[in-house]
Amino acid sequence: MAGVVALTGATGFIGGALCQPLVQAGWRVRALARRPPGRVLASEIEWIRGDLNDTAALRRLVADADSVIHCAGAVRGRSLKVFERVNVHGSERLLRTARGESRCARFLFMSSLAAREPTLSWYAASKRHAEEVLQQQSGALALTIFRPTAVYGPGDRELSLLFLLLRHGLLPVPGNQQARLTLLHVHDLVTAVLRWLDSSPPATGTFELHDGRAGGYSWQTIAAIAARVQGRPVRLLHLPYTGLTLAAAVNLRLARWLGYQPMLTPGKLRELRHPDWICDNDALAATLGWRPRIDLEYAMRKGLNG
Ligand SMILES: NC(=O)c1ccc[n+]([C@@H]2O[C@H](COP(=O)([O-])OP(=O)(O)OC[C@H]3O[C@@H](n4cnc5c(N)ncnc54)[C@H](OP(=O)(O)O)[C@@H]3O)[C@@H](O)[C@H]2O)c1
Repeated sequence: MAGVVALTGATGFIGGALCQPLVQAGWRVRALARRPPGRVLASEIEWIRGDLNDTAALRRLVADADSVIHCAGAVRGRSLKVFERVNVHGSERLLRTARGESRCARFLFMSSLAAREPTLSWYAASKRHAEEVLQQQSGALALTIFRPTAVYGPGDRELSLLFLLLRHGLLPVPGNQQARLTLLHVHDLVTAVLRWLDSSPPATGTFELHDGRAGGYSWQTIAAIAARVQGRPVRLLHLPYTGLTLAAAVNLRLARWLGYQPMLTPGKLRELRHPDWICDNDALAATLGWRPRIDLEYAMRKGLNG
């Protein structure tokens, strides 16, 4: 048995994708869940009912754990406060609890490439702030920060609409036509996490992750790949700048009024319109020997895009 891993976010896309591979690799997985986990998630997992706000639940989560993988996070919200509560204060509470557990030697924070551009959105600002707070407070705990770019694959809800439209021969472009985007398949992210767990001494630092495609993707390249794989043309659908800006502003107003957490907000639009999401795997490759294996064309050909 490799040891005990405390996992957060296991009911979500990335944490959920980690469950089975962790169990298969011999780890005893203890996972935090705010709601009963779905049947598809590994039944070998010990579930701890609770929230990142609940210190007692966090203590049960990290008791006797060797490592913490922190994937829980707010990815949508109607104010900075919503993001800070989970991404900053929740992460800080978890780290402090892990520091109190003598066995626990390493802590992986699933941040985001967005943290590189904290002025774009509340989400990005909260991820950067969380990184800073965790770095200040990690003490003797080996802290590693992963900054994955946009992640896709089975179980993803955010990019699945894009893939659905691609299958219908359409690629919506939300703004900047010259933008360079990057992508990462969730299976490659899982492999990186498993490598991190096996690293000895624990690899520490802040690492960007993408699928390794040099120079990233343009919207045109994505359309061309989909057209090649599907054997039919894919049309770029340029979304009107003003209309989309207005829709994001109205959605935010409605969310505040009706009390839901919106995905499309002015901040999310700024992220989508940002011209340069090119990133670099070199640091992680040098540290963990990790190399991504799945690019967009391979994923689409093999039906791995979810
Ligand atoms: N997906 C991407 O493209 C991407 C890219 C870069 C970084 N990331 C980061 O990776 C992490 C996981 O993303 P994801 O795509 O898997 O998101 P997701 O599917 O929305 O899952 C988020 C997870 O966090 C949990 N959670 C949220 N607030 C919580 C709280 N207060 N207490 C306890 N658990 C809480 C959710 O629980 P419930 O199921 O109960 O809601 C869920 O399990 C996030 O931190 C995100 O910022 C994601």
